[in-house]
Amino acid sequence: MGQRTAPENSLPTGPHVPVLLAEVLAALSPLEGARIVDGTFGAGGYSRALLEAGATVIAIDRDPNVTPFAEALGTEFGTRFSFVPGAFSALDVLAAGAPVDGVVLDIGVSSMQLDEPGRGFSFMRDGPLDMRMAGEGESAADLVNGLEETDLANLLYAFGEERKSRRIAHTIVAARAAEPITTTAQLARLIEKSIGRKPGDAHPATRRFQALRIAVNNELDELVEGLFAAERLLPEGGRLAVVAFHSLEDRIVKRFLDPDKGGPTQSRHLPQARSDDRRWVEVAKARKAGAAETGRNPRARSAVLRSAKRSGAGPRPVSVAGLSVPSFRGAA
Ligand SMILES: C[S@@+](CC[C@H](N)C(=O)[O-])C[C@H]1O[C@@H](n2cnc3c(N)ncnc32)[C@H](O)[C@@H]1O
Repeated sequence: MGQRTAPENSLPTGPHVPVLLAEVLAALSPLEGARIVDGTFGAGGYSRALLEAGATVIAIDRDPNVTPFAEALGTEFGTRFSFVPGAFSALDVLAAGAPVDGVVLDIGVSSMQLDEPGRGFSFMRDGPLDMRMAGEGESAADLVNGLEETDLANLLYAFGEERKSRRIAHTIVAARAAEPITTTAQLARLIEKSIGRKPGDAHPATRRFQALRIAVNNELDELVEGLFAAERLLPEGGRLAVVAFHSLEDRIVKRFLDPDKGGPTQSRHLPQARSDDRRWVEVAKARKAGAAETGRNPRARSAVLRSAKRSGAGPRPVSVAGLSVPSFRGAA
């Protein structure tokens, strides 16, 4: 199942190979007759497997380009499958109050997004510097050409944990004074020029492009909002499975599910959550892909799955406290 390809040759480029699929299904089980929200539909790899296991699926994606994949599943599974375009930060609203037994989020970009040069996500293929999943709002070019040098450096530091953020920001700002930076190749060359490239290492643009993508798509705020939306939506016993590909995201998920793992940003002077206050009970330990899966699909290397089920305690108001969510605009 993990090797599944796009359902039809006529569908957009892909295929996106679902990551940790068997583990995600196990975390959401039992599936026969269950109603599951797939908040990151993509090419529909999870949705298809959930439907084949007997679940009803409400799928969400903010990328309009996934529509043909959703239409194909609609044709195949009829009323057991529905698709709602939108952002998963509002997944409780998008699910329209229907009773739901589980929510799955597979955070990040799909292979279709990465592989399509016109989307501007990848420095491997030259294209417009765009990176917008939903095709609206500020593009990567808007940020790269419009941010103050300090904010640009803060962005790279906050979302890329970039030690040389100031040097890269300085090179970009000097270059854009001569001409705007409008393509992925232009930006990749500037990053390489500012910090060099060691033989054998990944291209230095890899991490910096990811940081920019996180900012363009507001990915960390979306994740926080989506987690709290799942907390509001799911009844006691309802299950949540989240696959993250970036340490910043995984840390947010970990701390959201277990506030006792709040780390240094959570005040040591605050009382620890009592176990009967907990909103989530761990279903299984955090899972990573095994050697067989990473051999087949290198993209699975950084994936971490966390899963939990809802306790009977009421949902919390949305708050980033204790979640270590970095931000860059106006940061010191
Ligand atoms: C990693 S892919 C999901 C792949 C999917 N699990 C599959 O098996 O085909 C992530 C998808 O989530 C979508 N996405 C990312 N952030 C989103 C958000 N905040 N709201 C809605 N969709 C989002 C992206 O557009 C992309 O299609």
